[in-house]
Amino acid sequence: MSIQVIHNVRVAAIADASDFALTDDAVVVIEQQNIAWVGPIHQLPDTYQHAERFDGGGGVLTPGLIDCHTHLVWAGSRANEFSMRLHGASYEEIAAAGGGILSTVKATRAASEDELFDLALVRAKALIDQGVTEIEIKSGYGLELETELKQLRVARRLGETLPLKVHTTFLAAHALPIEYKDDADGYIDYVCERMLPAALKEGLVDAVDVFCERIGFSRAQTEKVFMTAKSFNLPVKLHAEQLSDQDGAKLVADYQGLSADHLEYLSDAGIAAMAKAGTVAVLLPGAFYFLRETKYPPITQLREAGVPIAIATDANPGSSPIHQAQLMLHMACTLFRLTPEEALAGMTVNAAKALGSQTSGQIKAGMQANLALWDIHQPAELCYQFGVNPLQARWFQGRFSRPNK
Ligand code: NIG
Ligand code: FE
Repeated sequence: MSIQVIHNVRVAAIADASDFALTDDAVVVIEQQNIAWVGPIHQLPDTYQHAERFDGGGGVLTPGLIDCHTHLVWAGSRANEFSMRLHGASYEEIAAAGGGILSTVKATRAASEDELFDLALVRAKALIDQGVTEIEIKSGYGLELETELKQLRVARRLGETLPLKVHTTFLAAHALPIEYKDDADGYIDYVCERMLPAALKEGLVDAVDVFCERIGFSRAQTEKVFMTAKSFNLPVKLHAEQLSDQDGAKLVADYQGLSADHLEYLSDAGIAAMAKAGTVAVLLPGAFYFLRETKYPPITQLREAGVPIAIATDANPGSSPIHQAQLMLHMACTLFRLTPEEALAGMTVNAAKALGSQTSGQIKAGMQANLALWDIHQPAELCYQFGVNPLQARWFQGRFSRPNK
């Protein structure tokens, strides 16, 4: 049996934001793909005393980072819209004029599966080299069957090719395609009756998401998609309260949703419903920053209500063209005033919760051996600086690799 013993590390086990369980001079034992034992070196069981050792050089060992909200598979560029915004147009105005998501849809439809794969591969590798071991990838730039399937196949292929666990999310209800202009209900019927069953049949769907917004879909349309997802036993999540309060967070919580994401315009009723259902609040500081949002998600109230908070890149061409996990940790602290402990829990244990994963996001016996070793002395350094990558090594399901820097 293959056993690896990582020693001379400070282990940040990260059970939750208030319990970091930082252990000095610690050892983590990996057996095959899983963590078999964690503790201080003087307690290492005899059976592991003579196993192959890896010297962590006194660095900090954390769970591999988890990016629980991305739109990684897309083609084209929205740099022109970036310029338009700098000339005064708003994100919503650009979308209403047929740009925004629809311009990425056009480019993504035109790209071949291999082209999309190559584009997404570069982005996924950038995240891997920053200590990410698990991500979620959404569809939503096809808005018709073949392209939605193409995006999801690429997402699956990334997970098969790279040392990265990929969770796929079906987000065909992301925007209204031109073919259904003025017939949003008709499009939702197409999503529920044709697209979702077809994607599911190919084994391409781990969860279902909707963009519930003025420029997306109404609460009633969102609920229809959720009911269909539930009929297939699929978990749901929601782009909720990003640009306005649509009461989406309460809706997704009522469907025992895994997460409600964005949440700048979240209401007290939404918070209460999320707390009751255990729905994770996924905050996306990259989108907040890039869209120059001024309204903050209600962090204090989320904290007080005990809602688990996760942090993700939202990597996408329109609202967060950012493939930097460590920058998100930094921004969660500087923009949203999360503590470093909360930010790190947001990209580990709580991100795992947001993906429904019971076997990742923490360092403890029985978890998958997804680990990141950092050349730092305290976990807060991961949030404090960015631009110098302190990642020394990573393990994905027990497999060791070093980052390309
Ligand atoms: O999470 N809000 C909707 N979806 C993305 C933006 C997609 C885009 O602009 O291409 C988001 O912000
Ligand atoms: Fe998003």
